[in-house]
Amino acid sequence: MRLFPPPFSLHSPVLRTPLCAGSTSPLASGTGARHFSDRPPGRRTRGRYGVRACSGSGTGARHFSDRPPGRRTRGRYGVRARYLDNAATSHPKPEEVYAAMDRFAREEAGNPGRGGHRLAVGAGAVVEDTRRQLARLIGAPDPRRVVLTANCTHALNLALKGFLRPGDEVVTDSISHNSMARPLHALAQRGVKVVFLSPPLPTAPVAPEQVEAAISPATRLLAFTHASNVTGVVQPVAAYGEIARRRGVCLLVDAAQTAGSIPIDVEKERIDMLAFPGHKGLLGPQGTGGLYVSDRVELVPLMEGGTGTRSESLDQPAEYPSRLETGTLNAVGLAGLGAALKFLEQRGVVELHREVLGLRGRLVQGLAGIRGVELFEPPAGVERTAVVSFRIAGLPPGEAEQLLDQAFGIQVRGGLHCAPLAHSVLGTLPEGTVRVSPGMFNTADDIDLLLDAVRRMVAAGRGN
Ligand SMILES: Cc1ncc(COP(=O)(O)O)c(C=O)c1O
Repeated sequence: MRLFPPPFSLHSPVLRTPLCAGSTSPLASGTGARHFSDRPPGRRTRGRYGVRACSGSGTGARHFSDRPPGRRTRGRYGVRARYLDNAATSHPKPEEVYAAMDRFAREEAGNPGRGGHRLAVGAGAVVEDTRRQLARLIGAPDPRRVVLTANCTHALNLALKGFLRPGDEVVTDSISHNSMARPLHALAQRGVKVVFLSPPLPTAPVAPEQVEAAISPATRLLAFTHASNVTGVVQPVAAYGEIARRRGVCLLVDAAQTAGSIPIDVEKERIDMLAFPGHKGLLGPQGTGGLYVSDRVELVPLMEGGTGTRSESLDQPAEYPSRLETGTLNAVGLAGLGAALKFLEQRGVVELHREVLGLRGRLVQGLAGIRGVELFEPPAGVERTAVVSFRIAGLPPGEAEQLLDQAFGIQVRGGLHCAPLAHSVLGTLPEGTVRVSPGMFNTADDIDLLLDAVRRMVAAGRGN
């Protein structure tokens, strides 16, 4: 049963503009969204830091707002896309990232570490520069212990499957992403005992005392999410690290939602393994990520193969990063990630995050004032990222996502966000929540447009 009457029929004869060619969305049936207003084309705008906070993937849908025509940019299909899904991947990237990848791909893309000619050596230097920058950003004492991966999931699999053996016990949280939960589930089927800890309140972090109490003589690893990708709650990983060190176990942290947003120091916080993506808060391209492995930890490689080192031997090299870094790297992406890291260093992670948290505050304040909206906010005083989750009474989150995209040109994510355990804790199964995640290229205008759209959706739902 559809509880929420949409403000327009998805198959109305007045809907003519084709939407999202190739999409499987029910809204992409070629009917198009109803034109509620016909705002004249505006001027192209450049957002903060000289990059438009819009993508070229706009749909044919027009705003059904009667706001005075403002400045807006035209994407490939004619309407500006307001991207508010930076928890999935940051978009757009700083101009420097596009430029670095273009230059590298055209002029420098030899195979890093494979051969002694100038392009191979030059590409290797670019990759090593990115590795050094990553090490500096997370406080890793030895850049060689930063293993470059395809994404955060790859890094988590290297860590969990390279570390845990049958009979081991791992203590983890139940707000994790499937990138942590699924490898652990697979390991449980191979004889690893997995202990899940739920926070004392659905939107709170797991308390250090819970972690301390859960450790048994069989425990070898604590595996924790730094920040939830559903509520944005930040967990006290430094406290977990202190417990881990004192109790003689190792700590793995999933920093998918914090790397590049919240300062991390693996030494100070006693983090033994840190998994992170390059394509979210670090502002690099997709296909990049990494795993920091401290020298307290030895991991069994998941793959063997070419590394460009010790080629005379059939044994996988023992030393890092070659031990875990097998096959040709995504050097083009790593050139882009290197440029993104320079951008972050110049602007400052803390300063940039403060600005994004300002947008978050505006968003939460606005949503809290809309009747029919239910927010899932961390308790007062608890640190959080820019991620905000909410539900609209009577409107399934997946439909809200589609409406916001097709009718308002706003991209958020609706559903479970690959974190069913977190939704089980929140009580939001099976439909999940609407998740909004502003990034550093968003503006207050983007937030206000979203709030305006939500108000209209709520009003339309109540009016019918
Ligand atoms: C908390 C968390 N962990 C892991 C991942 C997986 O990251 P990736 O897509 O880079 O594999 C995500 C992605 O959204 C995430 O939010």
